[in-house]
Amino acid sequence: MAQSVDTDDLREWLAHVDESETTQFLMVAIAHDQGVSASDLASWYGRSTDEIDDWLDELERRPLPVSIAAREGIDFEALADASGLNRRTIVDWFGSLASSEVTQAADVIRRYSQQSPGPLLGGTESRVFYLNHEVLAEHGWSLEDEDLFEKAADVDLDLEDYGRFLVKPGETILEAAEKRGRSWPYACRGGACANCAVIVTEGDVAMPGQTVLTENQVTRLNARLACVGVPATSELYLVYNVQHLEQFEDLRLPSPLTDAEPLQ
Ligand code: FES
Repeated sequence: MAQSVDTDDLREWLAHVDESETTQFLMVAIAHDQGVSASDLASWYGRSTDEIDDWLDELERRPLPVSIAAREGIDFEALADASGLNRRTIVDWFGSLASSEVTQAADVIRRYSQQSPGPLLGGTESRVFYLNHEVLAEHGWSLEDEDLFEKAADVDLDLEDYGRFLVKPGETILEAAEKRGRSWPYACRGGACANCAVIVTEGDVAMPGQTVLTENQVTRLNARLACVGVPATSELYLVYNVQHLEQFEDLRLPSPLTDAEPLQ
């Protein structure tokens, strides 16, 4: 059995799953841990020995929350499409729940199986480091600079231009920024423009339901929308105030922050 899963965790998970196959999967894992053979388990649960062997193999190579999420009906492909992230990232998120309390991990899986997307790392805070795009030109920096945030840390920038804050479970990045006193650009606040766009330089952000950014903007430019985006990693580095870049020209709305004048 995978070293990270102990029998107490397996028993605790039993109280949090709904599908009969998930229950059987956990029961097989517990019984096998207690020395019951695959052929006996196959006979107990009316399955083939090959199927039981596959389950036991899965327990060795896959984080338990991923196996449970798949059996509880979570569609990794659909979540990848809805969030603008790739399937591997989605699967890795669920895998990272292995380090959470079982009740927290189960809550995330339940919300996603019921198709009520929220922060994928539910129950976990994320630390966001931010940099204002306006200061890049002043200092001769570029979004491509690998040490962009190291350079920013070495100069004396205002809190408005450089800093960090925590995003709590249930908060979008824009909400968290505002609650902590930052004033970042936005317009629709609903994923329908690019006024709140940020460029992620490290870490990742999920955007459940976003349909505005193109695949190119998401995968090549690493753009995300702060108003609907929730951190998918425990640390995140992003450049905000990028809505004036030409790549977002067709997606800018008049801003409520500037008396309905279009952002330049
Ligand atoms: S403010 Fe329009 S997408 Fe975020």
